[in-house]
Parts: sequence; structure tokens; C-alpha cells
Amino acid sequence: MKTQQTYRYYKGIFAGYDPPYAFVDLDAYRHNLEQTRLRAKGKAIRIASKSIRCRHLMLEALGYNAQYQGIMSYTGPETLHLLEHGFDDILIGYPIVDEASIGRIAEYVKLGRQVVFMVDRPEHLAVIDRVGKTEGARLEICFDVDGSSDLPGLYFGVRRSSLSNVQDVVALADKLKAHPNLLLAGIMIYEAQIAGLPDALPDEPIMNTVKRYLKRISAREVAKRRAAVVKALADRGYSLRLVNGGGTGSLESTASEDVITEVTAGSAFMAPGVFDYYKNFNLKKAAAYAIQITRRPKDGFYTCAGGGFTSSGVPGWDKAPKPWLPEGGRLQPREGAGEVQTPIEYSGPEELAIGDPWFMRHAKAGEICERFLRLHLVSEGKIMDTVPTYRGDGGCYI
Ligand SMILES: Cc1ncc(COP(=O)(O)O)c(C=O)c1O
Repeated sequence: MKTQQTYRYYKGIFAGYDPPYAFVDLDAYRHNLEQTRLRAKGKAIRIASKSIRCRHLMLEALGYNAQYQGIMSYTGPETLHLLEHGFDDILIGYPIVDEASIGRIAEYVKLGRQVVFMVDRPEHLAVIDRVGKTEGARLEICFDVDGSSDLPGLYFGVRRSSLSNVQDVVALADKLKAHPNLLLAGIMIYEAQIAGLPDALPDEPIMNTVKRYLKRISAREVAKRRAAVVKALADRGYSLRLVNGGGTGSLESTASEDVITEVTAGSAFMAPGVFDYYKNFNLKKAAAYAIQITRRPKDGFYTCAGGGFTSSGVPGWDKAPKPWLPEGGRLQPREGAGEVQTPIEYSGPEELAIGDPWFMRHAKAGEICERFLRLHLVSEGKIMDTVPTYRGDGGCYI
């Protein structure tokens, strides 16, 4: 059955439910899984758990197609939560240095689970090696190599890894000899400036062209770096089982590199606000939440309870939630989405009453799950299931 993502459609599904509630449209989610799978050109896709934060939706992706393999987690306790629930093949996407978590993860590794720790500094090697020794476990690590492009007059990228080039990587690899409890499993280069930068914003044709040009230059440079790092490590006898890269916004360019064994994606499944404006893909809006109209200060204004779920990143309007349905709602420039009230200006055809829902979309993918204990999963006009978010599991990981 083809469903239309209209106000009436979702209002009908949630008749009898009082906002606030959050939901994921499984039909849209699966559409996005399929698009993402095709964009990855046959490469394995690791699921970025930070962009989902709901076990059931990660299982949905893993079960959708065999191309979906493994999780990229984001903290020690979160990784443990996933391990406790049976997840395997976990690459911790960011360095963790809390020995208690590393120790408990090592216990799972000894039982045969596959977990890889991210590192980019000697201090990271030292702490993981020390815990590995205490636990009697050989722990796999992955080098996070910086994926930024330092262009003349413009630093195009992020500040994360201290490994900027092949020499840095080789120097860290040489330190591995002194850490017998570590095993180098792979490298990751995440090109945030390509994967996370919208390049088809309305009313910005010149900037969009500039951004696409910069992305093309940067993608070429990152591809060279990735190949050079893999070769340099191979020359020193390291055969890597994983070479990870990319994210929602860069899948086609990252997946086309020969050395890449897997790409990472997560936001693509949910299709949040910041991914509305990319040239390469067109996702279906899958994740949303409802707030309730409680006031009408004036004709054309509908003030709802709550709603101010602003996302992380550089503060700005692109991080504000987007009024979604009915179409045509606008936040007030001087109020935005508020702590306890959100006025929405609307002059469209939908007849709205006190008590009706307004459907909103968060700017980012997984962060909305920090605000809700449950997600309703809807498909073909019905609520199919209601599942816990990480918060609903009792977890608050970042
Ligand atoms: C290391 C890493 N890989 C991949 C991604 C891509 O995730 P997503 O597809 O959810 O944007 C991110 C996002 O920030 C990341 O930090």
C-alpha cells in the first residue's frame, strides 16, 4: 500500500493519543534503508547508533538487508548496553578512556564478541593496553585518521583526530610494538565536511555551487589519504580487516574508493531536518514528534505545548525543529521553538482546533530520542509497535 505523508494521515493514526509523542514511519524508514543501501554501492554499511538511539530500529536495519553489518557506537556504557542486548560487531566510533567500561567490554571480547576501540593518540593505546593486560584480553583497535582538508585560506573540516597524515599514522603504528595486548583491526577516516554539509539549500545557489566544488576537491584528497594510509600500514605488515569512512552525506563518493571496506550511516534512515538539502539524495521524512495545540493567541497563530527540542552543533535556525504537518507552519523568528510553548504561524487550509497535534521534525536524527521514552512505529496507516528509545531503556549515554 502506498501511503501519503499528510497531516490527516498521521492525525488519523494517532487519534486518541495526546501529544507529546514521537514516532517513526517504518514505510519511510525502509525506503531510506533501500536508498542508502543503493548509494553504498555494495559496500557494507555500519549503523551509526548515535543517529538512531533505539535498539529496535537498529535491528530493523540489520534485518533489512545483509549489506547492513555492525554498529558504530559512541560511548563505553552505550556499547555495554548494546552488548548486553546481544549486539555484536561494534566499532566504537570515538575514543573512550574510562577504564571501567573498557574492562567490562573486554569481558565480552573474551567471550567472543567483536568490539573495536577507536584511537588516535599514544594515551589511547596506553589505557586500552593496560586494561587488556589486566583482563587477559587482546583488544582490537582502529586508527581514526583526520579527514579534514586544510585548503589555502580555509580549514575545511573538523578538529578531532591528531593523526593528520601518513607519517603520524606510521609513528603511532610503530608504538604498537610496545603494546602487546592491542591488535590493529583497521582505520577510519570520517570526512565530516563532505558527509555533514548540506549543498542544496534553497536561495543559496552560489554557496551551494562553492560547497559542491569544495566537497569534490576534498573527496579526492581524502581518497588519496585513505589509500596512502592503507598502503603505508600494509608495507609495515598490517593487513586491515576494516577501512571505514563516510556518512549519510558522502556515501557515493566514499563507497567508490577501492580501499573502503565499509561506510557508516544512520541519519539517512531517519531523514531529519539537516538532511533536507543535499543534491545527491532525496530521503523520505521518517522520524517526527507531535506537540499539542493548546492556545490560539490570534487568528493564524497556534501555540503548542513544549516542542523546543533544538539540536547540537553551531547554533542557528538550521538546528531548530521544523514544523512539518500541516504544511506551511512557521516558527516565530523572535521565539523559535520554546521551552514550554511553541507558537506556530499558519494560514493554510487545514482546520485546526485546540487539542490537535502539530507534527514536528527534529534537526538531527538520534537526538530526539533523548526527549522521549518510546517511539511509536507506524506503517500502512497503523501503529505497528511501540518500542523504547535508549532513554526508555533507562540509558543516558552522552
Ligand atoms: C565517525 C562518524 N562516522 C560516521 C558518521 C555519519 O553518521 P550519519 O550518517 O548519521 O550522519 C558520523 C556522524 O557524525 C561520525 O561521527
